[in-house]
Amino acid sequence: MNNLYQPVNCEITDIIDESPTIKSFVVVPQEPFSFKTGQFVELTLPGEGEAPFTPSSSPAQTEKMEITIMKAGKVTALLHQCKKGQKVGLRGPYGNGYPVDEFAGKDVYIVGGGVGLAPIRSLFLTLVNRIKDFKSVVCRFGARTPNDFIYKKDLFGPWQKINGVDIRLTVDKANGDWNGNVGVVTTILKPDDVNISNSVAVVCGPPIMMKYATLKLIEFGFKPESIYLSMEKNMSCGFGKCGHCMIGKYYVCKDGPVFTFDKMKPYSHIWD
Ligand SMILES: Cc1cc2nc3c(=O)[nH]c(=O)nc-3n(C[C@H](O)[C@H](O)[C@H](O)COP(=O)(O)OP(=O)(O)OC[C@H]3O[C@@H](n4cnc5c(N)ncnc54)[C@H](O)[C@@H]3O)c2cc1C
Ligand code: FES
Repeated sequence: MNNLYQPVNCEITDIIDESPTIKSFVVVPQEPFSFKTGQFVELTLPGEGEAPFTPSSSPAQTEKMEITIMKAGKVTALLHQCKKGQKVGLRGPYGNGYPVDEFAGKDVYIVGGGVGLAPIRSLFLTLVNRIKDFKSVVCRFGARTPNDFIYKKDLFGPWQKINGVDIRLTVDKANGDWNGNVGVVTTILKPDDVNISNSVAVVCGPPIMMKYATLKLIEFGFKPESIYLSMEKNMSCGFGKCGHCMIGKYYVCKDGPVFTFDKMKPYSHIWD
């Protein structure tokens, strides 16, 4: 029987400084590595430990994967010190991912902030790849300051010019030559951004943002089952054995990490 904990050997071939606390790593596996957008992987730094991350690259790309990592603690701080050529391991993919086929024919309303843009980038690239299948892709993203936005090169330029895509950005605090909106992300959510009766919403970001964005979407009239949330919990095994990741009756690693709000509503205190 295969050892479920055995990682695939990989090498870090490039590192991109995204913001003062976030870096993206280009990881090349020894063999092609497939995943569904929204699924997660366990990234191992040999001899040090491992942590779960959602790839930020398109699943169409199996020869290399991009993983965007915010410095949060022991493993992520060590990963931030890695140089090109560092050997790492990948195991997975785990979890359910976004049900992209169910989004067909609808407006997809994506609300994100901070490092939450990592899974969103993978989803965005997947949607854009078949943009004609969706009514529109409407993105509302926030960051603390303009410099804290990740994927600045794509976000401030090419992504805004894609037909069928509508992007608005906001910052909590402006500086430099920022002339966009100032305020938390909920200040740029408007009920007429999308046709709510034929839309799905995707929310990913810090817990406080997930809470208030979801409440706003409910206030606009979104059905709880049309709001997709990317949940995070401390994890260990990644595949439903250890129980570390449970929220109520759900294993975030196996039943999630993507949940509709109707499932998470009884546990929304975890955002407080
Ligand atoms: C499904 C999933 C996908 C994720 N995707 C990404 C991603 O794409 N990019 C990214 O930067 N991070 C992501 N994370 C979060 C990332 O896994 C944690 O930041 C990482 O495990 C921290 O490890 P560490 O050893 O550096 O920190 P530790 O030293 O273990 O912990 C530092 C602090 O962070 C807390 N912590 C640890 N793990 C988590 C967690 N999962 N959620 C909240 N607090 C935590 C600890 O309790 C502690 O207070 C994801 C988490 C999950 C569960
Ligand atoms: S991480 Fe072990 S059961 Fe989910």
